[in-house]
Amino acid sequence: MASSPNPADQLSHQSLARPAAPQPVQPHRVAVFREARFNAAHRLFRPDWTDEQNQAVFGLCNNPNWHGHNYKLIVRVIGPIDPQTGYVMDLKVLKDLIAAEVTDRFDHKNLNLDVPDFAGLNPTAENIVVVVYQRLRAALDPSLELHVRLYETDRNFVEYPAG
Ligand code: NI
Repeated sequence: MASSPNPADQLSHQSLARPAAPQPVQPHRVAVFREARFNAAHRLFRPDWTDEQNQAVFGLCNNPNWHGHNYKLIVRVIGPIDPQTGYVMDLKVLKDLIAAEVTDRFDHKNLNLDVPDFAGLNPTAENIVVVVYQRLRAALDPSLELHVRLYETDRNFVEYPAG
C-alpha cells in the first residue's frame, strides 16, 4: 500500500508536503525581578487573647514594646517581551510603583500603629506579603503576572501567590 500508484494518494502526499502557512510568532514570556527593602517595627498579637495566649503563640514577636525587621521584597513580574521596546515592563516603572505603593508607606514605620493596612490585621510576614501583592496588583497592568516574596529574616520568607 505504501507504494500505491493511486493518484489520489499522490495528491494527498503532495498537499502534506506543501509548506505550512506562517504561524504568528508567540512572544517569549520572561520573568523580570525587582528587589526592594524596608525597615519596620511590629508586634504580633491578638487583642482578644490573654497575655499568656499571645506569649505562647507569638513568643518574642509579641514583645509589647515592639521589635523591628529589615524586610526584603522580591517582586517578580511575568509577561511577553514587548516587540516594540524589548521589555516585559520598564523596571524603572516597577521601581517607582513599589516605592509608591509599599516602601514609602512601610519604611521606618510601626506597621501596627502607622500603616492603616494593618489596622485589625496581625502584621505577620504572611499578612504583609498579601497586602503588598494586593497593592501592586491593583497598580500593575492586568495582563502581567505578579508574584511577591517577602523576607522577614535571611532564613524566614514567604511568597504569594503560593505555588
Ligand atoms: Ni517579628
